[in-house]
Amino acid sequence: MSHINYKGNHLSVEEVLVSDIADKVSTPFYCYSLQSIIDSYSKIKGVFKNFSPLICYSLKANSNLAIVKTLANLGSGADVGSEGELRKALKAGIPPNKIVFSGVGKSINEILYALESEIYQFNVESEAELNFINSIALEKNVKAPITLRVNPDVDANTHQKISTGKAKDKFGIAIQNIPALFEKSKNLNGVELFGLNVHIGSQIMDNNSFNQAFEKLFKLVELLINNGHSIKRIDLGGGIGIKNRNPNNLLDLSFLDYPDSKSLDHYGSLIEKHFSSIGCQIILEPGRAIVGTSGILISKVLYNKVNSDRVFKVIDAGMNDFARPALYDAQHSIIPVKKIDQIIKNKISIVGPVCESGDEFLTLKEFFDIPQDELIAVLSVGAYGACMSSNYNLRPLISEVLVNKNKFSLIRERQTYEDLLNRDIIPSWIGS
Ligand code: LLP
Repeated sequence: MSHINYKGNHLSVEEVLVSDIADKVSTPFYCYSLQSIIDSYSKIKGVFKNFSPLICYSLKANSNLAIVKTLANLGSGADVGSEGELRKALKAGIPPNKIVFSGVGKSINEILYALESEIYQFNVESEAELNFINSIALEKNVKAPITLRVNPDVDANTHQKISTGKAKDKFGIAIQNIPALFEKSKNLNGVELFGLNVHIGSQIMDNNSFNQAFEKLFKLVELLINNGHSIKRIDLGGGIGIKNRNPNNLLDLSFLDYPDSKSLDHYGSLIEKHFSSIGCQIILEPGRAIVGTSGILISKVLYNKVNSDRVFKVIDAGMNDFARPALYDAQHSIIPVKKIDQIIKNKISIVGPVCESGDEFLTLKEFFDIPQDELIAVLSVGAYGACMSSNYNLRPLISEVLVNKNKFSLIRERQTYEDLLNRDIIPSWIGS
């Protein structure tokens, strides 16, 4: 059961009424359910029958320290995509031997820091990167642990901006070029190449796409083993999708329970079908499926407005706070924090205050007539919400709140205007 629900007419996160949080924290703010994060992590961990994969939570989905720490305490590893995320994972107490480093463009400083930190593996995305890591490791007199990221040329059937496994994408190494790189790596003394990884995209709702990628990867593994290579680890990336809304009934929040056991069991069975015979370690890098449905964005209606034939609700959260609708045309449910009966039976757009027409969260055929100053909640924003926010329009980054049963706490303070204004430098030659 979802931990975000109405108690009577009032939206609550676990046992806390959202309006009680809003009495203490100014809007807009993100709010997460701790129990939802714990449940999602445990659900994914629990679907495997024949092996226990290393779950490396993908920090890019939400890198708030309290959330990463929660997952560290549950035994999670980390998938990091930058030195910042690596530092955050270490700070949260994730042991280096549970940290994998992904990404097409690792810089020299990032590679050095990861080698010094003795991370579990680099997921390498090109021959050039393999050579570069090899040369740095040789200089430092260490051996870098490596898996190669395979580009399997599979359609993830997701938004094109978050699809990463097609031949045309910048990610991974074309599958047909992998065997030659395994041969070559025998002569690279700075690297130990012992595995493969794949990540075909994000927000994947169709397990058939995973199946195609796993099938291709399995055939490649067989070929490499036949060629005499030892494959010790297979990292299957992330990508499991969540639901962002129920288009038929805004107040039915049961979609927040997705991915449900049925779809996760199916995902797990595909992995077991392909890889349980190989006897190597399986690694997964879920991000969204762990934190996505745990989070809501609370905002206040600033103005109700009609312009010729268009009706708007202008709220105090904008595309700088939550970028997914503007970037990926994502449609996240929006609901009143306090239920009301009045409905506007007119097409209506819920928009933010940022000076761009793209600053639009959702357009609906009808919507609750939520009055000025009342609160709304945008749902399923725990992943790729706060971490993708920006200072555009010189708006401060907003607060984040974590709820645990009947308690809540700030887990990130809202940026102050001093934070915003004090980083610019006026050169002396500009004049006073
Ligand atoms: N592993 C790698 C190598 C990745 O690139 C990603 C996400 C993940 C794991 C985690 O994927 P997940 O389980 O969260 O789908 N900002 C976009 C999503 C970008 C995903 C980037 N890579 C969005 O808001 O939809």
